[in-house]
Amino acid sequence: MDKLVIRGPSVISGQIPISGSKNAALPILMGCLLAETPVTLSNVPHLRDVTTSLQLLATMGCDVLMDERLNITLDCSAIHSKEAPYDLVKTMRASILVMGPLLSRFGEAKVALPGGCAIGSRPVDIHIEGMREMGAIIDIDEGFIIAKAPQGLRGAEITMPIVTVTGTENLIMAAVLAKGRTILRKAACEPEVVDLADFLNAMGARIRGAGTSVIEIDGVSALKGVDYRVIPDRIEAGTYLAAAAVTQGCVTVTDVDPTHLEAVLEKFKQAGALVTSTENTITLDMRGRSLSAVDIETQPYPLFPTDMQAQFLVMNAIAEGTGRVKETIFENRYMHVAELEKMGARITLDGNEALTIGQNQLHGAEVVATDLRASACLIIAALVAQGTTVVNRIYHIDRGYERIEEKFHRLGVDIQRLSS
Ligand code: UD1
Repeated sequence: MDKLVIRGPSVISGQIPISGSKNAALPILMGCLLAETPVTLSNVPHLRDVTTSLQLLATMGCDVLMDERLNITLDCSAIHSKEAPYDLVKTMRASILVMGPLLSRFGEAKVALPGGCAIGSRPVDIHIEGMREMGAIIDIDEGFIIAKAPQGLRGAEITMPIVTVTGTENLIMAAVLAKGRTILRKAACEPEVVDLADFLNAMGARIRGAGTSVIEIDGVSALKGVDYRVIPDRIEAGTYLAAAAVTQGCVTVTDVDPTHLEAVLEKFKQAGALVTSTENTITLDMRGRSLSAVDIETQPYPLFPTDMQAQFLVMNAIAEGTGRVKETIFENRYMHVAELEKMGARITLDGNEALTIGQNQLHGAEVVATDLRASACLIIAALVAQGTTVVNRIYHIDRGYERIEEKFHRLGVDIQRLSS
């Protein structure tokens, strides 16, 4: 299993291009199942979860081609299997996103119950209930969700009990080829949901209101292929900015959309950073400034994202003063706390809150990455730690960050990947 060895402390500086968004690319890839003619996607990040998605689509009969500029063409005109097998689904929860498109276009889907990051139970009941309301007959049998809609799906008014990103995306994709109008209430407003809706509309779907909590979809009879560019990854951008903040460095992230990061940039400013943006770049300058602890509460977009919680916890761990972080999205998303404590952080967990007493310094240690964003936070902690940190089990990070050691190396970090 690969590990990262990082020698600190470092002060990072420079410019880093941000990759396409993982959480936008995955639903868009699954959405290609809806198209009767080939789709070409650009700005798709090269990540383990993308490879897994392409493998999954290929097992169903999708023809996948990559050109010399790494654009991906997917031809789903001859899908022969409507099944997502367990060995692929277990490594990536987002596989559940094949369910909406398969049911919508072919009237059947068989999807293994998902695995993925160990951050709470993360059920898919809202996806299932929503599709039932659209007329699907769904059984759970021997670890599979078996869904059928022999007469096709029909439009429905669905109020989701809590805000779910993947749930909203799956129900949008189920509704695009359904008969009649679907109204989704309490829908997720994340930019990745908007990107999926823009992509589907470009293919001929009729979706209004994406980016608000009420989305209306008028079913159409077929979708055709398009060329589409995936939005930048706001969480990757936020992670490099957090690294600049903890090391008192200065980093410019390019190819980003600053409007997707407003709540996060506000918290960086509150922590003492100088943040400036252009239309597609953000610079965080922490040189000669001191970091103050901030209070954070994770909430659905446009509020502070759960995917930036771990990175801000590290900032608080070395900031002046005490900070309070409250996680409201996932119930078990503090597995990085025990690892940060090994590096000298002082964090007290109280239910879903993490209270920090800022330390002047952290020290290197042997730590284990437990999920995707936790891995990122351990690397950030290693940048400010005195001595060597070894981050084990970094396969999690390869699921979500493109060429992370190369990008940190460019910013001046002594970082090395060891394979064993
Ligand atoms: C997505 C993102 C993930 C991000 C999260 C929150 C992708 C591939 N993943 O995850 O990176 O951390 O949004 O912004 O885009 N829930 C239910 N029943 C359901 C569905 C969800 O109870 O049927 C609960 C979950 O357990 C969780 C909350 O709703 O507590 C939010 O989950 P959701 O938004 O669905 O997260 P994901 O889509 O899994």
